Amino acid sequence: MQPYSDTTLSPEDTTAAHLSIQQVSKVFPGQSRWLDKLQRRTSADFVAIADIDLDITPNTFVSIIGPSGCGKSTLLNIMAGLSTPTSGVVMVNGRPITGPGPDRGVIFQNYALMPWMTVAQNIRFAVETVYPKLPRAEQKAIVHEYITLVGLQGAERKHPHELSGGMRQRVGIARALAIKPQILLMDEPFGALDALTRGFLQDEIERIWEQQRQTVILITHSIEEALLLSDRIVMMTRGPAARVAQVLDVPFSRPRKRETLDQHPAYHALKAAMEQHLSYETRAVEESRVRTRR
Ligand SMILES: Nc1ncnc2c1ncn2[C@@H]1O[C@H](COP(=O)(O)OP(=O)(O)OP(=O)(O)O)[C@@H](O)[C@H]1O
Ligand SMILES: [Mg+2]
Repeated sequence: MQPYSDTTLSPEDTTAAHLSIQQVSKVFPGQSRWLDKLQRRTSADFVAIADIDLDITPNTFVSIIGPSGCGKSTLLNIMAGLSTPTSGVVMVNGRPITGPGPDRGVIFQNYALMPWMTVAQNIRFAVETVYPKLPRAEQKAIVHEYITLVGLQGAERKHPHELSGGMRQRVGIARALAIKPQILLMDEPFGALDALTRGFLQDEIERIWEQQRQTVILITHSIEEALLLSDRIVMMTRGPAARVAQVLDVPFSRPRKRETLDQHPAYHALKAAMEQHLSYETRAVEESRVRTRR
């Protein structure tokens, strides 16, 4: 996709993004401070994800689905460069990532807005940071365009504490899209929204993706959402040491219509495979919880 003109991004940044996750594991260290030791509260290291291998070809829309707490956000934060893997590497176009970058836009599960900035300032800050050389009027026009896209006109001057959860999430979506990243990383972006807004924004994301075709990673709990939007669906096992259980290819042609999607011959088999996977993994998590409580 083309970023805005007159930016500090280098021309090679405009190439389609190939994302390669190679043998990525993340271990969160247990408590071992002297006070914890004294109080015998030390805990073992926690292996969240183990040996994740994923090759995401440019311009593909990939969803990640798995039981709650399995490590989806952990993996996404590593792809965003916000967290380093304990072992393994994430490469973008053959280069290992060393931190966050303007090539990757992130929509966080918990909004992550700057509380002292208004809606417009939150979005403008991202645009200014990524495209500092863009004339001010153009920056403002982009902010306006994306505020309109997510339906936040009238709320431009509000601060995050004055917004509903759904509105905050829309600011997060606008902020990530406004920088036109090559890779869009979304952590349950529609989870806090009412059904109508969710449907509207899902359609918008699909429409934008049809036009711009960046590489998208979407974490979701919704089977229908994954089937509506994705080319491939990555199903993760439960944690600890969560892995990739299976990758499904979604063969539906685009543009897709939610009303007729279930008429495709492959729809019900794919949906059943995902339901079965999630219910098996979630039941196993619950059973192990019950066992440890006894
Ligand atoms: N900073 C941290 N320190 C210790 N453990 C962590 C940390 N972050 C996450 N974990 C643990 O790693 C596991 C995976 O967490 P993560 O947030 O990635 O799960 P998730 O799949 O995104 O869950 P959900 O679907 O509920 O959002 C969980 O058991 C969690 O408790
Ligand atoms: Mg999460």
